[in-house]
Amino acid sequence: MAVATSIITSQYHFPNTPPSASVRRWTQMDLGDPEIKKLNYFIETERLRLLPWTETDRRDFERLATDPQVVRFITGGTPYTADRIDKFLERQIRQQEQFGYSLWRIVVKDTGEFAGFCGLQPIAETGEPEIGWWLLPEHWKKGIATEAGQAVLDWGFRVSQMPIVVAVCNPANVASLAVMRRLGMQADGEMVYRGQKCARYVIRRDQWFSDGGCQN
Ligand SMILES: CC(C)(COP(=O)(O)OP(=O)(O)OC[C@H]1O[C@@H](n2cnc3c(N)ncnc32)[C@H](O)[C@@H]1OP(=O)(O)O)[C@@H](O)C(=O)NCCC(=O)NCCS
Repeated sequence: MAVATSIITSQYHFPNTPPSASVRRWTQMDLGDPEIKKLNYFIETERLRLLPWTETDRRDFERLATDPQVVRFITGGTPYTADRIDKFLERQIRQQEQFGYSLWRIVVKDTGEFAGFCGLQPIAETGEPEIGWWLLPEHWKKGIATEAGQAVLDWGFRVSQMPIVVAVCNPANVASLAVMRRLGMQADGEMVYRGQKCARYVIRRDQWFSDGGCQN
């Protein structure tokens, strides 16, 4: 099964690989949505849209970051402070401008609901691109993280030409480890990440494009 992703972009071109059939120029799409038209691009999957954060999305991130179930393996369940929420948003907006990627917010296409985030950021300790995901609990167990993760990896390897993508998590976070494995990522030992000992998973570009790579 091919990855059901379409990437609509006005600012990227695809130097070494021919664009897949699912990669289209923004101008060829009649999206009919003024909010989307203001943005440079978005990634679309069968059920989801992945979009850059804007200052007006603070409430959405606040819902995620103050839910003890969501931050259980990040802070031990302590909700983010207002200052930490502001810093997260500032960082996403800055990294989107600087690198062309961020931890994109996820919107469910059918309902317009905010579901969480899935995207990429550089790991401070190593500079490697890291994929990450957080969902509101009402969106768990629907395959949303895996569907978004497939699209994000495909974007990272195909559009941004990343050689490798890394994922890290608390070794007790079995739900997150399961997403990594479903995406075809492989265990690569442990690393210290923001002061925590974490499980490290990786997938390389050649693995993504090899037989069985970008499939699930
Ligand atoms: C980590 C997290 C995103 C995983 O969410 P998830 O819902 O388990 O993962 P997915 O969205 O990929 O869903 C997969 C599950 O949906 C089920 N599912 C239901 N419908 C599905 C569909 N249409 N397609 C695929 N899977 C589907 C799968 O069977 C699977 O359930 P299982 O694990 O019981 O087999 C979620 O637990 C979370 O947000 N946790 C808090 C934040 C966090 O810790 N993030 C990681 C930090 S490192």
